[in-house]
Amino acid sequence: MSKIPLPTQPDPSQALLLARDVTMRFGGVTAVSELSLAVPRGAIAGIIGPNGAGKTTAFNVLSGFYTPQEGDVTFDGQSIKGRKPSEICRLGMARTFQNIRLSQAMTVQENIMVGCHVRRHCPWWMAPLGLPAYWREEDAIVEKSRRLAERVGLGAHLDEKAGSLPYGAQRRLEIARALATEPRLLLLDEPAAGMNPQESLELMHFIGHIRDEFDLTILLIEHDMKVVMGVCQYIWVMEYGALIAEGGPDAIRANPVVIRAYLGEDMAVQDA
Ligand SMILES: Nc1ncnc2c1ncn2[C@@H]1O[C@H](COP(=O)(O)OP(=O)(O)OP(=O)(O)O)[C@@H](O)[C@H]1O
Ligand SMILES: [Mg+2]
Repeated sequence: MSKIPLPTQPDPSQALLLARDVTMRFGGVTAVSELSLAVPRGAIAGIIGPNGAGKTTAFNVLSGFYTPQEGDVTFDGQSIKGRKPSEICRLGMARTFQNIRLSQAMTVQENIMVGCHVRRHCPWWMAPLGLPAYWREEDAIVEKSRRLAERVGLGAHLDEKAGSLPYGAQRRLEIARALATEPRLLLLDEPAAGMNPQESLELMHFIGHIRDEFDLTILLIEHDMKVVMGVCQYIWVMEYGALIAEGGPDAIRANPVVIRAYLGEDMAVQDA
């Protein structure tokens, strides 16, 4: 996996995804407070923090699922404020969810095909007319979904129902469905959750490979420090909705504020 060197402070003018002073409240709860971050093109970056720190809420704002009360998010220079999630997806942003959101009763291949349809050119009404262009595109989608299933190690499970797969495989299927939308930015909310140490290690290598292969920028939330420190070039640390630190993995590991708030002295000493 090739590593792109990053400056200590990502340059906002070079960012693919940029959040400026984002605040998101739910009634009296401020889940995200004045969050600013710049995700550089081609990077694998991470957001970490204790439970309830506001990471998923930040993701929901960054991906346009929530409209923040204050601040703005731009993707490739365009504000995503007020855009529908489907529109944002077509712009080139795809995500997975902390609580897996697959169509459990659909097969592996059908789930991936749902992602492929984002890029479909021929509208659905061409199907009953028997127009060859429609069926050519349908064949291409079947083939593309098969290739993506293979890419995430599910090539032998195309016809199995998503709900029957083990947890780790469902997470990989969600990534395949996201890749099927042909994103430039991939947001992964706790991709290693529920995986055993071996699966987490494989996932770490997999994330690096897909970044290179699909020319992606990746932002992930993760509790597994081995995954975060092993794969991320830049990390933001949240606590109580706010950023408490940012920097490369070495700087984060050594940051006393982060150690006190989150990593714990043991982790810092162990990994130093
Ligand atoms: N839809 C909502 N309505 C009300 N409060 C919410 C909502 N979503 C999140 N919160 C609150 O906002 C805070 C941040 O939650 P969030 O899920 O973003 O944290 P997180 O960092 O992703 O935590 P975890 O590591 O447990 O996934 C929490 O106090 C949570 O209870
Ligand atoms: Mg979360």
